[in-house]
Amino acid sequence: MEKIMLTGDKPTGRLHLGHYVGSLKRRVELQNSGEFSKIFIEIADAQAITDNAYNMDKVRDNIIEVALDYLSVGIDPKKSIIFVQSQIPELCEFTFYYLNLVTLSRLERNPTIKEEIKLRNFENSIPAGFLIYPVSQAADITAFKANIVPVGEDQLPMIEQTREIVRSFNKTYGEVLVEPEAVLPEVEICNRLPGLDGKAKMSKSLGNCIYLSDEPEEIEKKVMSMYTDPTHIKITDPGHIEGNVVFTYLDAFCKSDDFSKYLPEYQNLDDLKKHYQQGGVGDRVIKKFLNSILQAELAPIRERRKKYEKNIDEVYRMLEDGSRKAREIAKETMKEFKEAMRICYFSDKELISHQKEKYNKD
Ligand code: TRP
Repeated sequence: MEKIMLTGDKPTGRLHLGHYVGSLKRRVELQNSGEFSKIFIEIADAQAITDNAYNMDKVRDNIIEVALDYLSVGIDPKKSIIFVQSQIPELCEFTFYYLNLVTLSRLERNPTIKEEIKLRNFENSIPAGFLIYPVSQAADITAFKANIVPVGEDQLPMIEQTREIVRSFNKTYGEVLVEPEAVLPEVEICNRLPGLDGKAKMSKSLGNCIYLSDEPEEIEKKVMSMYTDPTHIKITDPGHIEGNVVFTYLDAFCKSDDFSKYLPEYQNLDDLKKHYQQGGVGDRVIKKFLNSILQAELAPIRERRKKYEKNIDEVYRMLEDGSRKAREIAKETMKEFKEAMRICYFSDKELISHQKEKYNKD
């Protein structure tokens, strides 16, 4: 079967290391694998508006930031169609009809939505658009007949909801839509990279992120301020690995040749962990090691971003072009969708002749 990939991000801020290990890195690998006949990367501005309706500047300003981050990590507009959700009006049409195939209680059971409602203090005043955004996400995926959706773990309920809608639609109206599959990061820790403070996942509102666009000095400052192990006071004290953000990040980022490059005293991560647990390794050593690894990973991304930042016109043109291409494809699916639902009344000869017969019997 033809492989079609779709994924996206809400434009509510610059993208950070959590996005990078949780999804962006994988996307670029998949993009370059040559396995996909089509790849769609969506900037989900309409979804961002569901909880930013009174804060349009934030959404508007971040579209270009996300686009720059995409280009700088290696998403290539020659291989992937990068588009802006709101520019595809068909997505609203899909959403409107899908809403009839979903119950309110089903929407209220979505664990990711539940958590987000708590986080935003929406308990008593949930914007209706926010509650139903998983349905609009089903539209994003199905309008392009995507069957592979690389996402982080928190998006699994959205993919499950999409699959239910697809099954219900196909059963009711005919086989038009494609059931998607989620593809999760290979390394478990990449699903939920904690913030610098170790408290929760990296999140812009908590101010605990390293951004892909951070300058080298900022990265270093942030790494040096990371939460480690409060019981590891003297270098000789035994240290703990669990909950130690530096080690969590090393699990996510460290490659085998990083030791020979930056910390040749150790063979591998297990070796370093063992010594840290025994006592005798200072936090500065592990932080400097992590800093070297992150600097090497982020330098080429930042350099590429700088190049694109000088060509903002071109980046907007790329988005416009991608949105136009995406719309063409969504329109094709919409046509099949409406035919299956039998709402193309004016070209439905059978319907018209049936009604004619009803009224002109003799
Ligand atoms: N909900 C996703 C997020 O918050 C963004 C998104 C919107 C998305 N539409 C999508 C992801 C379709 C995958 C497929 O990260």
